[in-house]
Amino acid sequence: MGSISEGTRRVSKVDGARVLVYKDRERLFGEAAAPFLDLARNRDIRHPVVGFATGGTMVPLYKRIVSEVKANRISLRHVIPFNLDEYLGMDPRNPDSYRNYMKVNLEDLTDIRSTHLPGRDVLSFERSIKDAGGIDLQYLGIGTNGHIAFNEPGTPFDSRTHIVDLADSTIHDNAKYINNGSSPTRASTMGIGTILESRSIILIATGVAKAEIIREALEEPITEHVPASIVRMHPRATFMLDEEAASQLRH
Ligand code: GLP
Repeated sequence: MGSISEGTRRVSKVDGARVLVYKDRERLFGEAAAPFLDLARNRDIRHPVVGFATGGTMVPLYKRIVSEVKANRISLRHVIPFNLDEYLGMDPRNPDSYRNYMKVNLEDLTDIRSTHLPGRDVLSFERSIKDAGGIDLQYLGIGTNGHIAFNEPGTPFDSRTHIVDLADSTIHDNAKYINNGSSPTRASTMGIGTILESRSIILIATGVAKAEIIREALEEPITEHVPASIVRMHPRATFMLDEEAASQLRH
């Protein structure tokens, strides 16, 4: 993958995906927020359908969305939001739940409606996505083991929304976010097949802890052992990386 420098960002292509590497995180999150804001402002789209992700990586994305929405008086009332995943058996009022994460980072700060989160009734979650017309834009993070949403290594690429036992490494990685009760071991997650049906995908990775798995996802053969590796075959996927997350890429 040859890359072209454009000021503070480098652009390259891996299979179907664009890979953007940023020197400047401000620019990264500005450009990550832009397609969402464009969808929200597009008067030809009655109800843009957007898939949101959680995790530490996404916090600056929501900050940027909130500040743009406030500065430009953009209404998000017509957006139909979905989330990738949620812990099972956790009270939604628990501050560590993804329900609460979305409330604190986006819902309390804008006029967006309450997000759909997957739960035990995985079929009704799938049906809601279909009824909404499918996801226009899906944001993704990546776990250090290559998971997307909570699709752990070995999950079939054609999987639908399902209940999952979390990998030990995921329980360990996410323990830093759990302050109320013991670390959850099960979750409900959008499937990889469900995610890949989104019309466009933005995968964001920042920090050196993601460098090795980003290299595997982009430079090693595509395999179900690295769920994120399939994202590069999506025709409208963009990987947005900071220099640290891109630091192990050879090309
Ligand atoms: C969690 C979430 C994922 C997220 C990942 C990365 O397990 N289920 O959707 O992408 O972890 O989290 P972080 O951004 O905190 O590294």
